Amino acid sequence: STPFLIVAIDGGAASGKSSSSRTLSERFNLLHVDTGSYYRAVTAEMLRQNVRADDPAAVHAALARLALGTRVDGRSAVMTLGDRAAGDEIRSREVNDHVSHFAAIPELRAALLTYQRSQADVARAHGFRGLVMEGRDIGSVIFPDADFRFFLHADQVERARRRAQEGQQDSIAERDRLDSSRKASPLTCPAGATSIDTTHLTLAEVVDRMAAAIATKLPA
Ligand code: CDP
Ligand code: CDP
Ligand code: CDP
Repeated sequence: STPFLIVAIDGGAASGKSSSSRTLSERFNLLHVDTGSYYRAVTAEMLRQNVRADDPAAVHAALARLALGTRVDGRSAVMTLGDRAAGDEIRSREVNDHVSHFAAIPELRAALLTYQRSQADVARAHGFRGLVMEGRDIGSVIFPDADFRFFLHADQVERARRRAQEGQQDSIAERDRLDSSRKASPLTCPAGATSIDTTHLTLAEVVDRMAAAIATKLPA
C-alpha cells in the first residue's frame, strides 16, 4: 500500500512555517495542520470565557468543557469548538499577547497533544497521502518519528520585518522568548532534524529544499 507520510515543520514566529507548509500540502496532497492556529483558537476561547493563564483551576475547568473537533477546509484542518469553527479572531492582537502564556501550561499542551496526533486519522479518512504539521514541538514531541523533520529559523530583524509587512502587531521577540524558555516542550531544534536558515532565502527556495527531500519518498 502507499505510504502515509508525516512531515514536521517547527520554528519561531515568521520563520516561514505556514507559507512553506501550505505549498508542500498542495504539491504532495498532504493535509495541512497549523498547530499554532490550535493554540490560538484555544486561547481565544479562554479569553472569551475570561479564564486567565495564571489560574490553573479555571484553566482545568475550561479544558474539561472544550469540545474539540476538526473540519477539513480544502487541504487545511480547522479546529472546531462545539459548533463553531475558529475564525479570524485567532489572529487578533489580544491573542498574540496571550497565546504563549496559555501554551506554557502542561495540562493544556497535553490536551492538544492527543488532539494533534488524532489529525493523522483525519488525514487518512479524507484520502490524503499524509500530513504536513507545523508548530514548535512537532518534530520533538508530537511526531518525533516523522518521515521528515524540518526546523526553520531566521534572523530576528528579518522576521519582525516579515510580520510587520503583513500589517500585524505582534511582539514576536517576546513570544519566542516565552516559547523557548518554558519547561513544557520548549521551542528547540530537535536532534536529527534538518535545520534551514531562511533569512536570505526566498520562500520558493525554502520549499524547493524541503520538496527535494520529500520527493525521494513520495513523487509529487
Ligand atoms: O504564526 P506564528 O509563527 O507567529 O505563531 P503560531 O504558529 O500561530 O503560534 C502561536 C503560538 O502558539 C506560539 O507563539 C506558541 O506559544 C504556541 N504554539 C506552541 O506552543 N506549540 C505549537 N506546536 C504551536 C504553537
Ligand atoms: O508560519 P510562520 O509564522 O513561521 O511564517 P509565515 O507566515 O509562513 O511567513 C511570514 C511572512 O514571511 C510571510 O508573509 C511570508 O511570505 C514571508 N516569508 C518570506 O518573505 N521569506 C521566507 N523565506 C519565508 C517567509
Ligand atoms: O514570563 P512569565 O510568563 O513567567 O511572567 P509574566 O510575563 O510576568 O506573566 C505572568 C503571568 O501573567 C503569566 O503567567 C500569565 O498568566 C499572565 N499574563 C497574561 O496572561 N498575559 C500577558 N500578556 C501577560 C501576562
